[in-house]
Amino acid sequence: MLPSVHDTGAGEVVLLLHAFTLDASQWDHQVAALSGDMRCVRVDVWGCGASPPPPADEPSLDGFAASVLAALDSRHIDRVALVGLSMGGYLAFALWRLAPERIRALVLCNTRAAADAEGPRDDRLAMAETVERDQSVESIVEPMVARLLSRRAQAEAHVVDPVRGRIRRCTPAGIAYAQRAMAARPDSTGLLASINVPTLVIAGTQDAIIPAPEGRAMAGRIPGARYAELDCGHLSNLEIPRAFNRQLADFLAPAKMAS
Ligand code: MLT
Repeated sequence: MLPSVHDTGAGEVVLLLHAFTLDASQWDHQVAALSGDMRCVRVDVWGCGASPPPPADEPSLDGFAASVLAALDSRHIDRVALVGLSMGGYLAFALWRLAPERIRALVLCNTRAAADAEGPRDDRLAMAETVERDQSVESIVEPMVARLLSRRAQAEAHVVDPVRGRIRRCTPAGIAYAQRAMAARPDSTGLLASINVPTLVIAGTQDAIIPAPEGRAMAGRIPGARYAELDCGHLSNLEIPRAFNRQLADFLAPAKMAS
Protein backbone atom coordinates (compact mmCIF):
# COMPACT_ATOMS: atom_id res chain seq x y z
CA MET A 1 0.00 0.00 0.00
CA LEU A 2 1.29 3.46 -0.91
CA PRO A 3 0.45 6.77 0.79
CA SER A 4 -1.16 9.51 -1.28
CA VAL A 5 1.41 11.62 -3.09
CA HIS A 6 1.09 15.20 -4.32
CA ASP A 7 3.66 15.87 -7.01
CA THR A 8 4.03 19.47 -8.25
CA GLY A 9 6.57 21.11 -10.55
CA ALA A 10 9.72 19.84 -12.23
CA GLY A 11 13.42 19.75 -11.44
CA GLU A 12 15.40 18.54 -8.41
CA VAL A 13 13.06 16.84 -5.97
CA VAL A 14 12.19 18.25 -2.57
CA LEU A 15 10.21 15.86 -0.37
CA LEU A 16 8.06 17.58 2.27
CA LEU A 17 6.84 15.61 5.31
CA HIS A 18 4.07 17.10 7.42
CA ALA A 19 3.44 17.42 11.17
CA PHE A 20 1.03 15.46 13.36
CA THR A 21 -2.68 16.26 12.89
CA LEU A 22 -1.95 17.96 9.58
CA ASP A 23 -1.55 16.73 6.02
CA ALA A 24 0.42 17.55 2.89
CA SER A 25 -1.50 20.81 2.41
CA GLN A 26 0.53 22.16 5.34
CA TRP A 27 3.16 22.85 2.68
CA ASP A 28 0.99 24.84 0.25
CA HIS A 29 2.97 28.06 0.74
CA GLN A 30 6.27 26.29 0.13
CA VAL A 31 4.99 24.52 -2.98
CA ALA A 32 3.74 27.85 -4.34
CA ALA A 33 7.19 29.37 -3.75
CA LEU A 34 9.39 26.47 -4.92
CA SER A 35 7.54 24.55 -7.62
CA GLY A 36 8.61 26.94 -10.39
CA ASP A 37 12.17 25.58 -10.03
CA MET A 38 11.83 22.29 -8.18
CA ARG A 39 9.65 19.19 -8.11
CA CYS A 40 7.78 19.30 -4.81
CA VAL A 41 6.65 15.89 -3.60
CA ARG A 42 4.40 15.63 -0.56
CA VAL A 43 2.86 12.61 1.10
CA ASP A 44 -0.04 12.32 3.53
CA VAL A 45 0.50 10.11 6.58
CA TRP A 46 -1.95 7.16 6.83
CA GLY A 47 -5.50 8.24 7.61
CA CYS A 48 -4.75 11.93 7.03
CA GLY A 49 -5.28 14.07 3.93
CA ALA A 50 -5.98 11.73 1.01
CA SER A 51 -4.02 8.70 2.29
CA PRO A 52 -5.67 5.34 2.90
CA PRO A 53 -6.42 4.17 6.45
CA PRO A 54 -3.44 2.81 8.39
CA PRO A 55 -2.36 -0.79 7.83
CA ALA A 56 -3.08 -3.41 10.49
CA ASP A 57 0.64 -3.83 11.39
CA GLU A 58 2.21 -2.47 14.56
CA PRO A 59 2.25 1.36 14.22
CA SER A 60 5.75 2.46 13.28
CA LEU A 61 7.39 5.51 11.75
CA ASP A 62 9.98 3.22 10.14
CA GLY A 63 7.08 1.35 8.52
CA PHE A 64 5.63 4.57 7.13
CA ALA A 65 9.11 5.71 6.02
CA ALA A 66 9.46 2.44 4.05
CA SER A 67 6.18 3.23 2.29
CA VAL A 68 7.50 6.72 1.45
CA LEU A 69 10.55 5.09 -0.17
CA ALA A 70 8.21 2.78 -2.12
CA ALA A 71 6.23 5.83 -3.27
CA LEU A 72 9.47 7.48 -4.47
CA ASP A 73 10.45 4.26 -6.27
CA SER A 74 7.05 4.15 -7.98
CA ARG A 75 7.81 7.59 -9.42
CA HIS A 76 11.43 6.74 -10.29
CA ILE A 77 12.71 9.31 -7.82
CA ASP A 78 16.16 8.49 -6.49
CA ARG A 79 17.54 11.28 -4.30
CA VAL A 80 15.67 14.06 -2.56
CA ALA A 81 16.19 17.14 -0.48
CA LEU A 82 14.14 16.16 2.54
CA VAL A 83 12.16 18.69 4.59
CA GLY A 84 10.38 17.43 7.70
CA LEU A 85 8.52 19.40 10.32
CA SER A 86 8.04 17.90 13.78
CA MET A 87 6.60 14.40 13.11
CA GLY A 88 7.91 14.94 9.57
CA GLY A 89 11.33 15.38 11.19
CA TYR A 90 10.94 12.13 13.14
CA LEU A 91 10.17 10.53 9.78
CA ALA A 92 13.24 12.19 8.28
CA PHE A 93 15.36 10.44 10.94
CA ALA A 94 13.64 7.14 10.07
CA LEU A 95 14.48 7.71 6.40
CA TRP A 96 18.07 8.57 7.29
CA ARG A 97 18.27 5.29 9.19
CA LEU A 98 16.76 3.30 6.31
CA ALA A 99 18.27 4.91 3.21
CA PRO A 100 20.73 7.77 3.78
CA GLU A 101 21.91 7.43 0.18
CA ARG A 102 18.49 8.72 -0.97
CA ILE A 103 18.91 12.03 0.89
CA ARG A 104 21.03 14.81 -0.60
CA ALA A 105 20.09 17.54 1.87
CA LEU A 106 18.07 17.76 5.05
CA VAL A 107 15.87 20.45 6.57
CA LEU A 108 14.74 19.63 10.11
CA CYS A 109 12.04 22.03 11.30
CA ASN A 110 10.60 22.28 14.80
CA THR A 111 11.66 18.74 15.56
CA ARG A 112 13.81 16.71 17.90
CA ALA A 113 16.01 13.64 17.70
CA ALA A 114 15.23 12.35 21.20
CA ALA A 115 12.53 9.74 21.86
CA ASP A 116 9.66 10.50 24.23
CA ALA A 117 9.98 10.45 27.99
CA GLU A 118 7.48 8.21 29.80
CA GLY A 119 4.91 10.96 30.59
CA PRO A 120 4.53 12.27 27.02
CA ARG A 121 4.47 8.69 25.73
CA ASP A 122 1.56 7.87 28.05
CA ASP A 123 -0.24 11.04 26.87
CA ARG A 124 0.09 9.89 23.26
CA LEU A 125 -1.35 6.48 24.05
CA ALA A 126 -4.21 8.10 25.97
CA MET A 127 -5.05 10.35 23.00
CA ALA A 128 -5.01 7.34 20.68
CA GLU A 129 -7.51 5.57 22.93
CA THR A 130 -9.74 8.65 23.26
CA VAL A 131 -10.15 9.28 19.52
CA GLU A 132 -10.73 5.60 18.87
CA ARG A 133 -13.31 5.37 21.65
CA ASP A 134 -15.09 8.55 20.47
CA GLN A 135 -14.67 7.70 16.80
CA SER A 136 -14.08 11.43 16.45
CA VAL A 137 -11.11 13.81 16.54
CA GLU A 138 -13.20 16.74 17.78
CA SER A 139 -11.86 16.60 21.35
CA ILE A 140 -8.30 17.22 20.15
CA VAL A 141 -8.96 20.15 17.80
CA GLU A 142 -8.67 23.09 20.22
CA PRO A 143 -5.95 21.54 22.43
CA MET A 144 -3.85 20.86 19.32
CA VAL A 145 -4.40 24.37 17.95
CA ALA A 146 -3.18 25.80 21.27
CA ARG A 147 -0.04 23.66 21.10
CA LEU A 148 0.70 24.07 17.40
CA LEU A 149 0.35 27.83 16.98
CA SER A 150 1.79 30.85 18.75
CA ARG A 151 -0.73 33.15 20.51
CA ARG A 152 -0.33 35.65 17.68
CA ALA A 153 -1.16 33.05 15.04
CA GLN A 154 -4.10 31.71 17.07
CA ALA A 155 -5.65 35.17 16.75
CA GLU A 156 -5.30 35.17 12.95
CA ALA A 157 -8.30 33.47 11.34
CA HIS A 158 -6.50 32.93 8.03
CA VAL A 159 -3.88 30.84 9.86
CA VAL A 160 -5.92 29.09 12.54
CA ASP A 161 -9.04 28.14 10.57
CA PRO A 162 -7.20 26.05 7.95
CA VAL A 163 -5.29 24.33 10.78
CA ARG A 164 -8.61 23.39 12.43
CA GLY A 165 -9.89 22.13 9.07
CA ARG A 166 -6.83 19.94 8.56
CA ILE A 167 -7.10 18.40 12.04
CA ARG A 168 -10.79 17.63 11.41
CA ARG A 169 -9.92 15.91 8.14
CA CYS A 170 -7.65 13.43 9.97
CA THR A 171 -9.43 10.22 10.86
CA PRO A 172 -9.43 8.77 14.39
CA ALA A 173 -7.54 5.76 13.02
CA GLY A 174 -4.90 8.05 11.47
CA ILE A 175 -4.44 10.02 14.70
CA ALA A 176 -4.22 6.83 16.78
CA TYR A 177 -1.71 5.26 14.39
CA ALA A 178 0.52 8.36 14.33
CA GLN A 179 0.49 8.72 18.13
CA ARG A 180 1.37 5.06 18.66
CA ALA A 181 4.05 5.22 15.99
CA MET A 182 5.60 8.35 17.55
CA ALA A 183 5.39 6.78 21.02
CA ALA A 184 7.33 3.76 19.74
CA ARG A 185 10.00 5.69 17.83
CA PRO A 186 13.62 5.08 18.79
CA ASP A 187 15.99 7.76 20.01
CA SER A 188 17.75 9.22 16.96
CA THR A 189 20.29 11.33 18.87
CA GLY A 190 23.05 8.87 17.96
CA LEU A 191 22.38 9.49 14.27
CA LEU A 192 23.11 13.21 14.37
CA ALA A 193 26.89 12.89 14.08
CA SER A 194 26.45 10.63 11.03
CA ILE A 195 24.55 13.22 9.00
CA ASN A 196 26.94 14.13 6.23
CA VAL A 197 24.70 16.07 3.86
CA PRO A 198 24.00 19.82 3.95
CA THR A 199 21.54 20.37 6.79
CA LEU A 200 19.40 23.28 7.94
CA VAL A 201 17.68 23.25 11.33
CA ILE A 202 14.78 25.66 11.83
CA ALA A 203 13.26 26.42 15.25
CA GLY A 204 10.56 28.78 16.50
CA THR A 205 11.08 31.12 19.45
CA GLN A 206 7.46 30.52 20.57
CA ASP A 207 7.33 26.80 19.88
CA ALA A 208 5.37 25.26 22.78
CA ILE A 209 6.12 21.67 21.73
CA ILE A 210 9.85 21.76 20.91
CA PRO A 211 11.56 24.80 22.44
CA ALA A 212 14.08 26.61 20.26
CA PRO A 213 17.09 25.80 22.50
CA GLU A 214 16.50 22.11 21.73
CA GLY A 215 16.67 22.88 18.02
CA ARG A 216 19.84 24.87 18.50
CA ALA A 217 21.45 22.05 20.50
CA MET A 218 20.43 19.50 17.85
CA ALA A 219 21.96 21.65 15.09
CA GLY A 220 25.16 21.80 17.13
CA ARG A 221 25.45 18.00 16.97
CA ILE A 222 25.09 17.77 13.18
CA PRO A 223 28.41 18.42 11.43
CA GLY A 224 28.29 21.76 9.58
CA ALA A 225 24.54 22.29 10.10
CA ARG A 226 23.08 25.73 9.60
CA TYR A 227 20.62 26.96 12.27
CA ALA A 228 17.80 29.49 11.87
CA GLU A 229 15.53 30.70 14.66
CA LEU A 230 12.26 32.29 13.54
CA ASP A 231 9.74 34.40 15.45
CA CYS A 232 6.86 31.88 15.48
CA GLY A 233 5.32 28.85 17.13
CA HIS A 234 5.56 25.18 16.19
CA LEU A 235 4.14 25.37 12.66
CA SER A 236 6.82 27.75 11.43
CA ASN A 237 6.19 27.11 7.73
CA LEU A 238 2.59 28.21 7.81
CA GLU A 239 2.75 30.85 10.54
CA ILE A 240 5.36 32.97 8.82
CA PRO A 241 5.72 31.48 5.34
CA ARG A 242 7.69 34.38 3.85
CA ALA A 243 10.47 34.18 6.44
CA PHE A 244 10.43 30.38 6.32
CA ASN A 245 10.56 30.30 2.52
CA ARG A 246 13.48 32.72 2.47
CA GLN A 247 15.49 30.34 4.66
CA LEU A 248 14.42 27.31 2.65
CA ALA A 249 15.03 28.79 -0.81
CA ASP A 250 18.41 30.16 0.22
CA PHE A 251 19.43 26.76 1.60
CA LEU A 252 18.13 24.79 -1.36
CA ALA A 253 19.77 27.03 -3.96
CA PRO A 254 21.78 24.63 -6.16
CA ALA A 255 25.11 26.34 -5.46
CA LYS A 256 24.69 25.47 -1.78
CA MET A 257 23.97 21.82 -2.49
CA ALA A 258 27.49 20.77 -3.37
CA SER A 259 27.34 17.20 -2.04
C1 MLT B 1 3.90 17.39 15.46
O1 MLT B 1 3.72 18.62 15.36
O2 MLT B 1 4.21 16.67 14.51
C2 MLT B 1 3.70 16.77 16.80
O3 MLT B 1 3.04 17.63 17.65
C3 MLT B 1 4.99 16.32 17.34
C4 MLT B 1 4.86 15.58 18.62
O4 MLT B 1 3.75 15.34 19.11
O5 MLT B 1 5.92 15.20 19.14
